Amino acid sequence: MKELALNILDLLENSAAAKAENIMLIIYENTDKIHIELKDDGSGIDGNPNRLLDPFYSSKNKKIGLGLPFVKEIVTLCQGSMDIQGKPGSGTNISFNLPKGCIDLPPLGNIVSTIITFITLHPEINFKYEHVIGEKFSIFDSQEFKTMLEDVPINHPKVLKLLESYLENNLKNLYGGN
Ligand SMILES: Nc1ncnc2c1ncn2[C@@H]1O[C@H](COP(=O)(O)OP(=O)(O)OP(=O)(O)O)[C@@H](O)[C@H]1O
Ligand SMILES: [Mg+2]
Repeated sequence: MKELALNILDLLENSAAAKAENIMLIIYENTDKIHIELKDDGSGIDGNPNRLLDPFYSSKNKKIGLGLPFVKEIVTLCQGSMDIQGKPGSGTNISFNLPKGCIDLPPLGNIVSTIITFITLHPEINFKYEHVIGEKFSIFDSQEFKTMLEDVPINHPKVLKLLESYLENNLKNLYGGN
């Protein structure tokens, strides 16, 4: 995959498939590294969490599952680190750290598009996104938007457009200036 944002979309889809009602995505960047963390309250993991990294393991109706092995491959290539925690009934927490100097590190890519796609497909899931770059941070909570929207669905096309520019502006502020 050419963008980390696409790997993240796959991990978010894993949480949705695990019937999560709440998902939190944290992206922490500084000049040296990028740290990505996903927490969900889905079904959790029965058994050794590391078996999820096996490309021939999938609980979906197929023989291979490539979402996590792809992430693991980037982590290995870049000599980063990765951690998977989860127990049945207590959700799953997946995090990885990647050094920014790595030549094989894909760009973060279009994280706004990942979030908008995910909300379009899973409006019922409460989604939180925290992005920290150095001293600056931005926080998004879909639950807060839902409260403001009252009866209008969060995945209404007009709302999605609004959300998209809101998130893009937040990112611009995060990356712009010092
Ligand atoms: N957040 C999660 N909660 C519970 N189980 C998970 C979670 N993420 C992954 N898993 C388990 O790990 C398996 C492997 O995930 P992975 O993303 O590598 O492949 P996949 O989702 O099965 O297939 P693909 O991503 O290729 O469509 C999943 O089938 C699921 O059983
Ligand atoms: Mg997957």
